[in-house]
Amino acid sequence: MQQQLIDSFGRQMDYVRLAVTDRCNLRCQYCMPAHGIEIAPRADLLTFKEMYRIIRVLTELGVTKVRLTGGEPFVRKDFVKFLEMLSFNDLLEAINITTNGAMISKHIPTLEQLEKIKHINLSIDSLQKEKFHQITRRDVFPEVYETFEALEKSSLNLKLNVVVQAGFNTDEIVDFVALTKDKNVAVRFIEEMPFNGKGQREMKENWNYAKILEEIKSQFEIVPIVSEKSSTSRNFSIDGHKGSVGIIPAFTRTICSDCNRIRVTPTGTFKNCLFDDGVFNIRDFLRKGASNEDLKELFLSLVKEKPENGFVAEANRKKGDVSESMSTIGG
Ligand code: GTP
Ligand code: 5AD
Ligand code: SF4
Repeated sequence: MQQQLIDSFGRQMDYVRLAVTDRCNLRCQYCMPAHGIEIAPRADLLTFKEMYRIIRVLTELGVTKVRLTGGEPFVRKDFVKFLEMLSFNDLLEAINITTNGAMISKHIPTLEQLEKIKHINLSIDSLQKEKFHQITRRDVFPEVYETFEALEKSSLNLKLNVVVQAGFNTDEIVDFVALTKDKNVAVRFIEEMPFNGKGQREMKENWNYAKILEEIKSQFEIVPIVSEKSSTSRNFSIDGHKGSVGIIPAFTRTICSDCNRIRVTPTGTFKNCLFDDGVFNIRDFLRKGASNEDLKELFLSLVKEKPENGFVAEANRKKGDVSESMSTIGG
């Protein structure tokens, strides 16, 4: 029987989130400061060969699903080649990607051809060009919308990630829901988390799960959909709509008891949880000559350190002082 990544609380890790870069072509207000972003020196980033090896060993320990994130994964040179390379891993069942979509429309046919690529999550926080520019600090709405339309027509499953930002896009919640009438897309509203790279963003008003739900219900009759236990979102259908809506209660609820995720950052830090600081640097271990067997032993022991509830553990430790950015964690 193959060894499995089982933590001290009996949870099995079968899903890895790999952030392939900390760089991004956008500067979303809630994720990065406008200037003075600290990025890792290139030599500190994992190479694609190293990433391939890490994923291979993890799949030999029962991981079947990888989500590639960033920063923006497509800004890393040869990312599409890496997708082709990763597709050769016969133990991997699904390769999913989270992207801002600004530079990917030309790659969609290739993504469709790679049959392990199943789900694309596209971040889009406004349907209005000017507001989109204000939130992302880049004038790329037409490109992102083109990607959205192309993905919606493609064979890939599409989810939209909308970070709900008080005073910026809360008036568009209803417009986003309306999109699901004719488009086969899962629109997911995300509670804004305090991960912005400098810890300086003040939340004016608390747009939490309950408030977002109330706003949707003010215009639409929604019916809960039963989702996978480890799903980040609570999902709903609307009679007569092709798509669905969901809410990711990023800070008012945790999915810790059903967590099946581990994470690897662009510089090779292994994370048991979105909220931990990283428990080990795999890059240094690899570069010192570790074998695949060594890596296996390492992963089996690292998951034993996974906290039962990372959100609570971290809140107690840091007392709310979060200065990391999603772009270095990978979301
Ligand atoms: P799928 O469930 O595979 O569709 O993806 P996802 O929702 O996990 O991934 P995505 O990259 O689209 O992330 C959406 C939001 O969920 C982001 O804001 C993430 O930070 C958040 N998220 C992802 N994983 C976790 C987690 O383990 N815990 C919490 N609290 N939030 C998470
Ligand atoms: N709060 C909530 N979601 C965030 N994301 C990035 N930063 C934050 C934050 N501070 C989202 C992105 C992307 C996903 C991976 O995480 O919009 O869709
Ligand atoms: Fe880039 Fe995503 Fe961060 Fe926006 S949220 S700056 S698209 S990494």
